[in-house]
Order: sequence, then C-alpha cells, then structure tokens
Amino acid sequence: MASSLSLLVAIIFCFSSLRCSNAIGKGYRLISIEKSPDDDSFIGYLQVKQSNKIYGSDITILRLFIKHETDHRLRVHITDAKKQRWEVPYNLLRREQPLRVFGKSRKYPVTVQEISGPELILSFTTDPFSFAVRRRSNGETIFNTSSSGKDFGEMVFKDQYLEISTSLPKDASLYGFGENSQANGIKLVPNEPYTLFTEDVSAFKLNTDLYGSHPVYMDLRNVRGKAYAHSVLLLNSNGMDVFYRGDSLTYKVIGGVFDFYFFAGPSPLNVVDQYTSLIGRPAPMPYWSLGFHQCRWGYRNVSVVEDVVDNYQKAKIPLDVIWNDADYMDGYKDFTLDIVNFPHAKLLAFLDRIHKMGMKYVVINDPGIGVNASYGVYQRGMANDVFIKYEGKPFLAQVWPGPVYFPDFLNPKTVSWWGDEIRRFHELVPIDGLWIDMNEVSNFCSGLCKIPEGKQCPSGGEPGVTCCLECKNITNTRWDDPPYKINATGNKAPLGFKTIPTSAYHYNGVREYDAHSIYGFSEAIATHEALLDVQGKRPFILSRSTFVGSGQYAAHWTGDNQGTWQSLQVSISTMLNFGIFGVPMVGSDICGFFPPTPEELCNRWIEVGAFFYPFSRDHADYYAPRKELYQWGTVAESARNALGMRYKLLPFLYTLNYEAHMTGAPIARPLFFSFPDYTECYGLSKQFLLGSSFMISPVLEQGKTQLEALFPPGSWYHMFDMTQVVFSKNGKLVTLPAPLNAVNVHIYQNIKLPMQQGGLNSKEARTTPFRLVVAFPAGASEGYATGKLFLDDDELPEMKLGNGQSTYVDFYASIGNESVKIWSQVKEGKFALRQGLVIEKVIVLGLKGTGQVSEIHLNGSPISNETKRIEVSSKEQKYVVGSEDKGESKSF
Ligand code: NOJ
Repeated sequence: MASSLSLLVAIIFCFSSLRCSNAIGKGYRLISIEKSPDDDSFIGYLQVKQSNKIYGSDITILRLFIKHETDHRLRVHITDAKKQRWEVPYNLLRREQPLRVFGKSRKYPVTVQEISGPELILSFTTDPFSFAVRRRSNGETIFNTSSSGKDFGEMVFKDQYLEISTSLPKDASLYGFGENSQANGIKLVPNEPYTLFTEDVSAFKLNTDLYGSHPVYMDLRNVRGKAYAHSVLLLNSNGMDVFYRGDSLTYKVIGGVFDFYFFAGPSPLNVVDQYTSLIGRPAPMPYWSLGFHQCRWGYRNVSVVEDVVDNYQKAKIPLDVIWNDADYMDGYKDFTLDIVNFPHAKLLAFLDRIHKMGMKYVVINDPGIGVNASYGVYQRGMANDVFIKYEGKPFLAQVWPGPVYFPDFLNPKTVSWWGDEIRRFHELVPIDGLWIDMNEVSNFCSGLCKIPEGKQCPSGGEPGVTCCLECKNITNTRWDDPPYKINATGNKAPLGFKTIPTSAYHYNGVREYDAHSIYGFSEAIATHEALLDVQGKRPFILSRSTFVGSGQYAAHWTGDNQGTWQSLQVSISTMLNFGIFGVPMVGSDICGFFPPTPEELCNRWIEVGAFFYPFSRDHADYYAPRKELYQWGTVAESARNALGMRYKLLPFLYTLNYEAHMTGAPIARPLFFSFPDYTECYGLSKQFLLGSSFMISPVLEQGKTQLEALFPPGSWYHMFDMTQVVFSKNGKLVTLPAPLNAVNVHIYQNIKLPMQQGGLNSKEARTTPFRLVVAFPAGASEGYATGKLFLDDDELPEMKLGNGQSTYVDFYASIGNESVKIWSQVKEGKFALRQGLVIEKVIVLGLKGTGQVSEIHLNGSPISNETKRIEVSSKEQKYVVGSEDKGESKSF
C-alpha cells in the first residue's frame, strides 16, 4: 500500500512537471571493486540499499564493469550479478564476438576511488553508489549520477525498470536521441519528451518516438572560450523515456542493462569518429546513389515508369535512379512480379535501356510475408521455420498483402532463407538496390489475431486499409503490460500497438519486448549480406527503421512526412541527427509524401534536397498528386539549377562519402562541426554544412524572397556567383536575396573544391573534366587552401585505398609573396588515370581584395600517381602545369 502510494505521488509529480522526485528507491551501495587480472578493466559489486516494489522488485546484487577501452572511450556496464540479462546481441547480428568481456567475480574491499584513462577519469561514491566522468584536460565533469543536492533520484535497477540520471551544466548544448521529429530544431529542448521505441508513426507527428532508436547524445560545451564535445551512448534496445530538464537528464528504461559508453571527443568530428569506430563505420555508398532518385507509390505499370524517365530527360533534369514502390508486386507479395502490369520481358527491356544509360533501379520490399499456401516464398519460409512465434506458432499480422508472418532475422536460418529469396528475385529482375520498408515492424492490427471464419482478408492491400483480422488485445503478460509505461507513440500506447506483441518471441526464446527496436537493423544486416553475395557489388539498401550501427549497412529516409513547410523544416534537424547517429546517407521525401504540396514549397524543397540531403529522393503517396520535378515549370527550373550544381559537385559528395566511411564524419553537418568555438551557431537548425566548408542557407518559409543567414567568422563565396563574397570578421547575420529559383550556397575560405561539369546522370557527369575552386581568405596577402578527392569504381564492394583501383588526391594551395602555389599529392592515382580524368581549370577566389575572381586555365593535365605541382606567379601572364618548374603561368 505504502509503495503504491509513493508510486502514485511519483507519477503525479513526473507528469505535472517532468521533474521526477527521488521516489523510487535509495539506490545501491558499492560493496567491492577489483582490477581484473586479465586486462585493465575493473569489476565491482553493488548491493541494493532498500528494496521496494515500485515497478517491480529491485535486483539485489549488481555487477559493475568499468574499462577505458581506448584512449577516448570509457565503458561503464551494470547488470544483474547473478543472471544473464538481455543485451544487444551484436555477436549474433554482426557475426562477431560479443563486445563485453568479464573477468572472474571475486569480492575485494573498495580501495580505489578513481579509474583514470588518458582523457577521461571515472570516479565514484560508494554509499549511495554514484559515478562521475570528468575530463583530464579541462577538469570538466561530463556525467555525474550523484543525486546529492539534485532533484533526481538514486539509480534504480529492476527487471523491467532501470533509472539513472546525470546532472548537467545549464549551458551544455545537447543533440541526439532519436528518431524523433523535433519542431524546435536540432538542439534538445528542456522538458520535451524523448521516447525511444521503433514505431510506424508518420514523421510529421512531432516530438514522438518514430521509426528508429538511437539512445545517444552529443554534448557540446564552451569551457573558458574553448569548445569541447563528447557523446554518451546507452547501448540498450529496450523502450525508454529520456527526460531532459536543462540541468539534468534521466533515463527510464524498461529492460536490458546499463551499458554506457563515453566518447571523449573533444571536437564533434572526433566524437563521431570515436562513436562509429565502436558501432561500425557508415557503409560506402555507390556513386550513383548520390545522384537524384525518383519514386512514388502508384507507378502502376512499366509504361508509367518509362514515361517518368523520359520526362526527366526531356526536361533536362538529372536523374540517376528510378524506383518502384509495392506496385510492381503480385498482390503486394515480396519477391513477386505483377505480370499483367509489369510483364517480365517489358520490364527487362526497360531495365536494359536504363542500365545502358547508366541509370539504376531500386524496388521496395516489406518484411511481412503473405500467408498463402501457393506462394513459394511463404512455403520455403514455413519449411525453414523462419518466422517470429507466438505460443509456438508463427505470429499472424496484417500488412499490404493481407495476413502475414514476420521473418525473424535473429535466426541464422532466416538469414539464409532471406538471402536465397533475394537471389531468386534478382535472377528474375536485376535490381540495383533494395528499399526495406515497414520494418519497425509495422502491423495494421494489434494483439493476437486470427483470420475471421468464413471471411477472406483481402490480399493485395490498398493504402488506407485497416485491420481485417479478428484480434484480441493481450494485456495479461508483464511484457505486454509492463509496470512502467513509456510514452509510446506520444500517448503511452500499449507497446504492441500496431506492431508485434512484446510477448511474442524470436530465435532462442528472445522476447520481442527486448528485440523490438532492432528488427529493422537485423533485417538490414541480412539484406546487406544477401545483396553482397548475389551482386558481388557494393550494396545499396534504404531502411526505414534503424538502430545503433545501422549506418554500416543502410541509408535511411525520414519516413512519411507531409507537403508542409513544417515538414521541410523538421527534416533538417532529423537529418543532422542521423549524421550524429552514424547514418550519414539520409534524406527526406522531397516535396513531401502526403498530398498536396504547393508549387512554391516544392521549389524550396528541391533546393534543400539537392544540396543538403545526402540521399536526394522525390517520393509521394499513392493518393498524392504527381510530384515529379518536371510537373511544374518553376520547380523544373529550380531543379535544373540546384541539381545541376549537385551533379557538378558529385566528386566532392563522393569524397565526403569516403570520409564518412573512414571516419564517421557526417556528410551533412550542423555548423558547429566546423565552428565549435562560435557559440552563436550551437542552436542553428536552418543552415547547415556539406562537409566542412560548404554552407547552405535555404528558404524554409512561405513567401520569403530574402532571408537572414548567419556567417561564422571568415570569407564566404557564393557558389553560383563567385564574385559575391561575404566577409565576416567576428561572425554576423546577413540579409541575403533569395528569389524563388535561387539558393544561397557559400563556400568557406581555405577550401579547395573539386568539381566536374555535371550531366543528366552520374555516369555521364563523372567522365567530364574537373575544375578546382580554390578559396583564400578575401584579400589576404597570405593564406592556404586544402581539399581532397576520392574516386573509385563504385561497384567495388569495398571502398578503400591500396587496392590499385581508386584515386586519392590531397590538394593544396597557398598564397604569399605575391604568388599563388597550387599543388597536389597523389596517394593513389590508378582510377583517375585509367579514366583519363583531367583538371581543365582552376578558379582562385579571394585574390587582391574582396570579391575579385581570377581564373587559371590549365592545360588539361591528367592526375597522375606522382606528386604534381602547379605554380602560378603573380607577375607573369602564363600558367604552369605539370612538374615543378616547367610550364606557363598567369598573373592576377
Ligand atoms: C510506407 C512508406 O513509408 C512509404 O514511403 C511507402 O510509399 C509506403 N509504405 C507504401 O509502400
């Protein structure tokens, strides 16, 4: 009675203010800690101080594991000392050894107070137990779970309820915790809910848990004028609410373990590097995938798709990839073809034509396998026992094909069966990539269902279909109705709402309760393995649901948005977050998924999508009016303009893709990645960067023909009219003209940008001559610029140097003593040499005063595998190309 009363008080308090009192318990006492004899880890034991029954019984003895895993990564792991608990099964998912290694568990008295790494130092209090992490370099505490003097409680660890809090300085800027459409921009906002549980909730629904789960945040602080960034991952796949209150953060998790990783940074780029070195580097993407993609639900036959491709050509708008949504399937069944509307021969002839043009074809695939005795995929799935179970039988759900079963990708047999189905389909239709949708996993029904007697559930769904099965809610298990209710779908919906009931189970008895949020992740891994096997080429996969590590296998789009200005704005913070999550290949449905989209908005959207979305795709709903870019005159003009420039920048984008793969660096980034000391940009969500130095300042509101843009200190050159330069000494707001078909894109000083001539698809564009744009600080008598270029055969599964199949060049330029020197260092030259790529022009910006532009025309020297140096004297009228002292030079 007493405990339920205190629970009620706690709940009322939490609901009314989002501040939670110390109502759950008195925490734990550290009773021992020892250094492992095997390595540098420490193992300790914690004993609960006072048990209670709020949200279930406390686990009495916990095991604590602490290790400085690298110079910049600290791990703190806490679990039940006596019983194995659910942990994210990376060993199964990635066929690797578990991340976790424990030593032997003997008990020693507590004699240590601090466990030091090169940059991070962990300290703790013993009674009640709390731990803190601080930086060696500036003494700043970055995480501190001590509740003393704080308004959060002690650590709680029960079977289905884990709680831990940290205090934070009020001026810390936090980013992350997704997937979540935040109306307020990229920076986390105090007292907004952050709930993590993968859901099929439309992306236009704000501040709610969406398709993916990423329990990680980056914390950026300015300490005595210098920026320090770090990030914190709680590696846990169970549902959770995270309450951020400005001066503290509380995790309320409904299962699993505390498995914290602290990444020391100190720069935002260091943080993503350290993060992705743990969770997996982002997948290398094929060159073509950085081109423009066109899709819609409702391309109902081959002729319609052909027509779309032809119209793009006629309108002279670049297009690389044409997609089919579920329309190509027979009755919405995976791995089948509707032979009436997509006759095999006609489809193959079409694919042959577009493949010859250099274009690609990607199709959708859903996890739900139609329950249909005459359907081969289903038959083979049943024979191999690959489906998720409920009470010993495959769990019945409903999606587009009608009644379905869901494959269990945690089962190795499912992975083989799935691979075989992909192989069979690929033999039928030579697709270039797969779009794995609805994998949260989405179900039109909730609960335990059966096919109603005497009734046939329609196979071949239409959009808007509702549940046709006869279902009853499951509320009698502690999995379906856990003691603590996370704020699922923004309204404390039951966990099984329109998905698999959380008491269903996977391979080896794993509960859906625990594995729910890794469904899409496990499907991406299986699909990646299959495509790699079947094609022998670098796979392209687009997944709606993602988890920690998904970027290693798939790109992501932000789901079902709306044709509204708000959806356009929200897409920016979601995408910037995905860069932080290690999923840099990300985009939103350009012009909005749901109908209708005003023409003006579509103009602005393609301008954002062409420059800012690494994955740039126009996609629309079945009932939406047609939204291909050629449909409206003004949109076509904006598209030619913006995509025309994107296609010139493809080598730059591809090099960013390489950088992302090597270091986790996001392709699209918030400004603070390049200007971490410039605090004015910490909350900026309306402008962003591609790479380190390419800034986009888009129009995100209706009726605007000018905008206020923030320019961090330095010289910024307009990409479309390089004579325009903004020089800002200390950083400033500038009003920029922004007529409908123009977009403000600026490059920063000190960059050397490789560009090509563009084209109507990437195959065409990538053979054209290069030009280099060198941007010095405006008017400076001394300065430098650097850039890089990576190229390879994008069909190669791996993206790397040293295989003799790629090209990597570091570009340098310097200005001083009245002369400009431009040179490059070629680490590997084979690919560019084989392709006969040439640099035909160098454009130097910033010479002799603001706004002056000079061009240096080079003589078309191929990039070779030896260091070349181009020297341009300011005194002569000629230019020099080739080896160091020969050639001509041109004055400025
Ligand atoms: C849901 C996806 O989010 C959407 O993009 C797709 O068009 C539909 N499923 C139909 O497949």
